[in-house]
Order: sequence, then structure tokens, then C-alpha cells
Amino acid sequence: MRIQTVDWKNNKIKIVDQTKLPARFEHIYINELKKLWRAIKIMQVRGAPALGAVAGLGVYLGIRSSRAANFSELEKELDGVIEYIGSSRPTAKNLFWGLKRMKNAALANKHLELTKIKQALLKEAKNIIEEDKKSSRSIGRFGAKLIKGGDKVLTICNAGILATIDYGTALALIYRAKEEGKHLKVFACETRPLLQGARLTAWELKKKGIDVTLICDNTAAALMQQGLIDKVIAGADRIAFNGDTANKIGTFNLAILCKYHKIPFYIAAPASTFDLSIHSGKGIPIEERPPQEVSRILLKAPVAAQGVKIFNPAFDITPHHLITAIITDRGIIRTPYKKNIAGVIGGLK
Ligand code: MRU
Repeated sequence: MRIQTVDWKNNKIKIVDQTKLPARFEHIYINELKKLWRAIKIMQVRGAPALGAVAGLGVYLGIRSSRAANFSELEKELDGVIEYIGSSRPTAKNLFWGLKRMKNAALANKHLELTKIKQALLKEAKNIIEEDKKSSRSIGRFGAKLIKGGDKVLTICNAGILATIDYGTALALIYRAKEEGKHLKVFACETRPLLQGARLTAWELKKKGIDVTLICDNTAAALMQQGLIDKVIAGADRIAFNGDTANKIGTFNLAILCKYHKIPFYIAAPASTFDLSIHSGKGIPIEERPPQEVSRILLKAPVAAQGVKIFNPAFDITPHHLITAIITDRGIIRTPYKKNIAGVIGGLK
């Protein structure tokens, strides 16, 4: 089965509803901005590159019926739409990168009549989708060089097909390695609280015929101690100029465990995940999510004492010195990160 996580079909945004997996593989069609905002918030669509893609389509959705009389009126509406979409989830840089691309596309076409500007915006949103397909494959191509046949790889959250358009970032390495004939074993951390590892990563790897074993998050150290993990590969939501990386909560734990056990720890992400306006991880906004995600399993069965205080940050920061290399769509970046990120991605802005 070929999966495309985000698409534009029949004048609507078509997404795989990730809240239904693995029980049901269903699509939803979105033709209203508010519905898109909610879909991002409740994570029917999630994962940094997929958020960049829906950001683009969302901007078009938000202005396509605009009755603005001139560009300056349209620009005001556009800025409102961009701000609204940007208020859905704060951490993934790709979301804001996608919004900025749309704004730039509008400005580049401001001399055109308004219907033509709208068409240019839809085209730009579709470009983001097509570019993500290519960039995922580049990440896979560069990263698969680091993988040997027989490797046992640990991953967290879902940085696969479902977090991108159709191939992944961290999981792109796995898919590419398999295409090259390397047989691997993958361990997927279940990824509390919303279980993206159990629900999404295990599901898609199994579908793709990869040998995957699901573990509780707190099993990772024991596996490493027994020599059962050769490398850890995670995705990223935002990477600062010095290489500090925000990713799903628990990623930092794995990086520390890797250091202790002398296991390589890799981050895989496209250039659009880098935030060159932020010096270090301290500047990365970390989303805090509702307590019910922790007090209940998938917002249903209660598992915590009623009324107990809950802290539920969705991401943590892995300091750059714990990262062996960052695999991007432009090549593999190693230390010294500031110098090499400047060379491969661009300088501090
Ligand atoms: O909260 P989520 O599920 O959106 O978090 C996603 C992650 O942490 C991914 O690892 C990250 O976005 C990279 S996806 C290629």
C-alpha cells in the first residue's frame, strides 16, 4: 500500500487521520481553516515535515475565498491566517517555515491580479509537498551509508512516512537501507504519552516489511546494556544553530543512554527543520500539552490518581554534544556543528 500522509484532492486537504491508527486507516478531508487548526492541535496530522505541508495548504485554504480588493487587503488577511495556523503548535520549525514560504510566495507575486496570486499560493503549497518527497529520499540516501546489514536500530516517536509526505526522516534511513538489501532490526519506543511509536512507527514499519519490535520507553537502557542496540536514530522538530535539537520528549534520555553505552546517536531532519535565528536549544519553544494525555491512556482509560498534578511537555532538547551526526537532505553534518551547519544549511540570521 502506498501511503501519502498529506495531499490536495478535490479542493480539500486530504490527510491520514493519525488518531485512528492502528485500528483504522482512514483519510479526512479538510476544507475549513478551523478544522485544520484542530486537526493539527489534536494531532490528526503531526510530525514536523507533515506540519510544514499542511501549513502551506492551510494558508491557501484560508485565503482562497478572500474578497480582498487589492494586495494590501489580501496581505492583511494572509497575515491573520498565518498567525492563526502558527498558534496551533509551537515547536516544529517546519510549520513556521511552511507559513513563511507562503508569505514569500505571495510577496513575490504581488504584482499579479488576486486570482493569480491565489493560484501561485496553491502551487507553492504543492511544491512544498513535492519537495518533501525528494528531501526525505535524500536523507535516506545519505543516512543509509551509516547503516550496516544486521544493525539493530532504536527509534522514538514517529519520524516516518506518517510524519512526512511519504518516506520519513529517521525511518527514511531504514527504508533506504532495506532497499539496498541490508537486513535490519528496529526497536520502536512506544513513546508515552500519545504512543506514536506503538501506534504509528510499529504500524508503518510492519506494513513495509521491516523487522520491528515494540518496547516500553523504559526498556531502552536494558537493551543497550545487553548489547542489543547498535545505533539510535531520531527525527527533529527544531534544530538550533549550534546543533541542539528539539524532538519528542524522551529523546534526550536516549541520547544520554547512548553516551553511557558508547552507542552512536543520530538525528535525521531536512534543512527546513533548522532554525538559524536561534543560537541554542534554550531558545526553542517547547509545547506543553493537556494533562489528560498523561492521566488517561489515549485520553480514555484513567491511569492516574484523580486531581494529581501533571507536567506534560511534548518535546525535550538534546544538547549537540550528545549527537554523533545530523543527517540532512543536503548531507551529513558532524561536529563542530556551528561551523558545519553554517556551511551546509546557512549562517546565523
Ligand atoms: O508530537 P509529534 O508527534 O508531532 O512529534 C513528532 C516528533 O517528535 C518527530 O520525531 C519529529 O517531528 C520529526 S518527524 C520527521
